[in-house]
Amino acid sequence: MTETDTTQPGTQRLFFALWPDDTTRDALNRTGKWLHQHWGGRRMRADTLHITLAFLGDLSAAQLDALLQGIHDIPVGTFELSLDQTGHWSHNRIGWLGLSQPSTPLESLVQALRDQLRALDIPFDARPHTPHITLLRKAQGGAAVECLPVNWSVNEFVLVASNQQADGAHYDVLKKWPLSPAKLESSPPQTVD
Ligand code: 2AM
Repeated sequence: MTETDTTQPGTQRLFFALWPDDTTRDALNRTGKWLHQHWGGRRMRADTLHITLAFLGDLSAAQLDALLQGIHDIPVGTFELSLDQTGHWSHNRIGWLGLSQPSTPLESLVQALRDQLRALDIPFDARPHTPHITLLRKAQGGAAVECLPVNWSVNEFVLVASNQQADGAHYDVLKKWPLSPAKLESSPPQTVD
């Protein structure tokens, strides 16, 4: 992500994401503080924390409308994520929190979203998806940092517009799509008298 606003006139910079509830956001923010003590850099504001599912870039109003109308519910049930892995990328100096083990439902969600985007002819960044929450930018990195896992109950995904301002990116959630409720363990049918 660039620091200056390079959004084309008449477009909005958009991405799909998992957006945390308040409790999860607080836990992520605490991990950000912890990581900052080790690796320095600039902490992301708590209200920006998310996992990107698909980065779309600058889209026209007509493309945004196609998304709002055309993305439909995705056949993935609610799921749990355990965010237990910290890391630092030297190429962009991001300090992040992610997953030590791949999450099958998360991968299914990303795949299903990409399928719908292709069907709508909406362009997106098609590089392999690396689930992470950016906690630090311009971080120097260093020795590996252990952290308490953050558990996230995922029950929806969202479409977000990004606006670059002097104090960093500001994000507006434009629409939410619920995931299907998790399937309950099979139980004997109830009889009704
Ligand atoms: P990042 O935090 O690792 O930079 C908004 O920019 C969100 O989209 C961020 O989560 C950012 O990830 C992600 N993203 C993915 N691909 C991107 C790209 N090509 N340009 C800008 N942001 C991208």
